[in-house]
Amino acid sequence: MKKIGFIGIGKLGLDCAEVMAEKHEVRGYDIYPRHSDSVKVCGIEELVNESEWIFIAVPTPHAEGYDGSVPSSHMQPRDFGHAAVIDAIKNVNKYATGSKKIVLISTVLPGTTRKHFVPLLDPKHQFLYNPYLIAMGSVKWDMVNPEMIMIGTEDGNPNALAGELRDLYDTVMQNNPRYEVGTWDECEAIKIFYNTFISAKVGLVNMIQDFAMRIGNINVDVVTNALARSTMRIMGPKYMTAGMGDAGACHPRDNIALRWLAEEYNIGYDLFDTVMHAREVQAKNLAHFLVDLSVMNDNMPIVIHGKAYKPDVEYCIGSYSTLVGHYIEQEGRDVVYVDPLADNQDKVVDRIAQPSVILWAHDRQITYEYTGDQDRTQPYCVIPKGSMIIDPWRKLQSTADIEVIHYGNTRRS
Ligand SMILES: NC(=O)c1ccc[n+]([C@@H]2O[C@H](COP(=O)([O-])OP(=O)(O)OC[C@H]3O[C@@H](n4cnc5c(N)ncnc54)[C@H](O)[C@@H]3O)[C@@H](O)[C@H]2O)c1
Repeated sequence: MKKIGFIGIGKLGLDCAEVMAEKHEVRGYDIYPRHSDSVKVCGIEELVNESEWIFIAVPTPHAEGYDGSVPSSHMQPRDFGHAAVIDAIKNVNKYATGSKKIVLISTVLPGTTRKHFVPLLDPKHQFLYNPYLIAMGSVKWDMVNPEMIMIGTEDGNPNALAGELRDLYDTVMQNNPRYEVGTWDECEAIKIFYNTFISAKVGLVNMIQDFAMRIGNINVDVVTNALARSTMRIMGPKYMTAGMGDAGACHPRDNIALRWLAEEYNIGYDLFDTVMHAREVQAKNLAHFLVDLSVMNDNMPIVIHGKAYKPDVEYCIGSYSTLVGHYIEQEGRDVVYVDPLADNQDKVVDRIAQPSVILWAHDRQITYEYTGDQDRTQPYCVIPKGSMIIDPWRKLQSTADIEVIHYGNTRRS
């Protein structure tokens, strides 16, 4: 049993600390009051002194307006904030009496750790960069079933500390994960480009959806399924279902921040701007489709079913639903949302009073089927007869009372 401390026990850190606490003695420190049944929440001094391993999972926040839930591609590119990580490092320096094994989890842009963090850390400590591929709604499952574990060392060699971290993870992992060892900078890059690959894939398949809507006689699923089965060059089928755009607390902002990096290193082009711009225009196209449908049907109200960035979680950060809502309003139309969990209740209603044009933003199966969970999203409220549901995932079927339109399928039969 190892003695482990987590600095920052928020959305990521607390669940990860609790997973570790199933096998180890784990302490947690946070600047906000936190509670756990298995992790001992304590002061920073106790945490630093009592822990052999110290995991840092504090926020590396984006600036206001840089999360992707509203248009941002016109704004000045900016790096993430580093103040909380620097504060955590200073606390370790201040309180540690002996040498500690420091593991930084927080997401940062390539080059950050070497430039801004390691020079601040007292050289008596050992340091690894170890970002996580974890998604909201499935943190604990993701933690013990990762696609890979990235361990960053100064020179990219698997040193003794990297081996010790691997031994530590072996005590909790369920899927015998693949380990990728690289420099700090390489691991920063693997993590952030993993996210932007996903954004790029979703942007591409939604581009095909746009073509399907314009050209006619195309069911986007026929096209993307053929591409998804092309395992020789295009790899796995995940994120190959066109639908709502890439969303959440990480992906949009990663692309937005990488625009800054491309400028910083004079790369000469900005693919991330293109991806994010495409994402916004895709949202605008979907919004326009909803407005048109409403106009053609006696100006039926427009409702978005699902406001959080995905089903089963409350987080509206980086939500594609609110991005679509933004463009509906830009066309001079009102929009409301139904979502009992949403942590932003602005314009959220608990019932739909009259027949409406409804965007079916959430589909649980699409989001969570990789965890084995196959249940589809059930209506969050009664859907009035005469409504039209626009299903960007093309899974729902029309009934006698409600017409379902499969956005992205313009085949005649
Ligand atoms: N949430 C995810 O799914 C996810 C996945 C992978 C990586 N990440 C990365 O992990 C990091 C943390 O993300 P999160 O979603 O848990 O953020 P969060 O804001 O939910 O949690 C961070 C916690 O750190 C605390 N904190 C802030 N400043 C502190 C300080 N100086 N000292 C101690 N505690 C402090 C906050 O009170 C909060 O509880 C970020 O860099 C994020 O990009 C998050």
